[in-house]
Amino acid sequence: MANFKVADLKLADKGKLRIEWAESRMPVLMALREKYKDSKPLKGHRIAGCLHVTKETAVLIRTLRAAGAEISWSGCNPLSTQDDVAAALAAEGTSIYAWHGLNKEEFYWCIDQTIQFKPTLTLDDGADLIFTVHAKHPELARSIVGGTEETTTGVQRLRAMAADGKMQYPVIAINDSETKWDFDNVYGTGQSSLDGILRASSVLLAGKTFVVAGYGHCGRGVASRAKGMGCNVVVTEIKATAALKATLEGFRVMTMDEAAKIGDIFITATGMKDIIVGRHFDSMKDGALVCNTGHYDCEINLVDLEARAKGKREIRKDNEEYVTKDGRRIYVLGQGRLINLAAAEGHPSEVMDMSFANQFMGMLKLAKEGKTLEKKVYELPPEQDQEIAATKLATMGLKIDSLTKEQITYANDYSAGT
Ligand code: ADE
Repeated sequence: MANFKVADLKLADKGKLRIEWAESRMPVLMALREKYKDSKPLKGHRIAGCLHVTKETAVLIRTLRAAGAEISWSGCNPLSTQDDVAAALAAEGTSIYAWHGLNKEEFYWCIDQTIQFKPTLTLDDGADLIFTVHAKHPELARSIVGGTEETTTGVQRLRAMAADGKMQYPVIAINDSETKWDFDNVYGTGQSSLDGILRASSVLLAGKTFVVAGYGHCGRGVASRAKGMGCNVVVTEIKATAALKATLEGFRVMTMDEAAKIGDIFITATGMKDIIVGRHFDSMKDGALVCNTGHYDCEINLVDLEARAKGKREIRKDNEEYVTKDGRRIYVLGQGRLINLAAAEGHPSEVMDMSFANQFMGMLKLAKEGKTLEKKVYELPPEQDQEIAATKLATMGLKIDSLTKEQITYANDYSAGT
């Protein structure tokens, strides 16, 4: 029996069904499981993972195990663990330390358990595991062959660490694969964030002024889905080109100081702290809804809101009503943590299929070549994206054209003109 700490092992049967549902919608990952189940290229490797414990992650874990890896896992956010999935994984022999609603001390305790397992590979979403290894177990960092990182925020932090010369093993930026950022970040975040807002509030979106802070891939996805639901979308940005793209897409662009006065629903998608702070809360309308879809819970300054509140109560699940001293009600969804995982189920399986196919390929690459790589941040090769996308298209029954010999010659002929 594996080592584990989960909320309730009795939830395992429910979790198993949920995982099977995800498996039926993740054909690329399932094809990789089939391809590598006999050759077991990850045999002899111990993978410590720190990534949201969801039904999709369970499909990844099962695939890594089928390819021969031993696993020890923790969640990467206090509110994102699906307890039935964690129970199902524990019941089928995965070492896992994860439950919904753990506190900060418990969060790091769970990560520490996975480090005790002496991993040879690490798999992160947000880089907390890699940072803990580097800060608290530098001796172990020397025997780790490599790691992968799932998300934009984690990759940014790891690049900063590598630039500082502090990185002790190579890391692959899964986020930077086209079949990750151009799908998961856009369509995954777009749909699942609205799903979280609706589960936590059940408000009508049509006609609402919907403020999106940040027009990167995630913000773009959220803005486009909110527009599709009939919202009047406002975008706030710090980057001129991103603001221009939002404008040309038909969104109103303004500062958060201006947007704070008119918004009905606010969502932060920036990866930066203090996007909504005290002075913004001071000018918000009675009834405004506020939430975040960035990795960390620092984008909305809840300390500032607490200081302005005379009372607070949970009005419905994942929805806290703050009453300000001047009598306005402001609703914070999912405690300012990523709304799509805190209040909903995260990105749909179909999109995680490609993200986790990249994770799996990243692990294979590190198992094979990790010892020869430098201690820096790598990307997966672009051919990998084409392979994953081609498999995805094939599972959707879609065919595409290919270049003729003449077209290839034309493409390479720099002497041809008008
Ligand atoms: N990140 C966003 N959605 C996710 C999901 N469904 N599973 C794991 N990580 C995620």
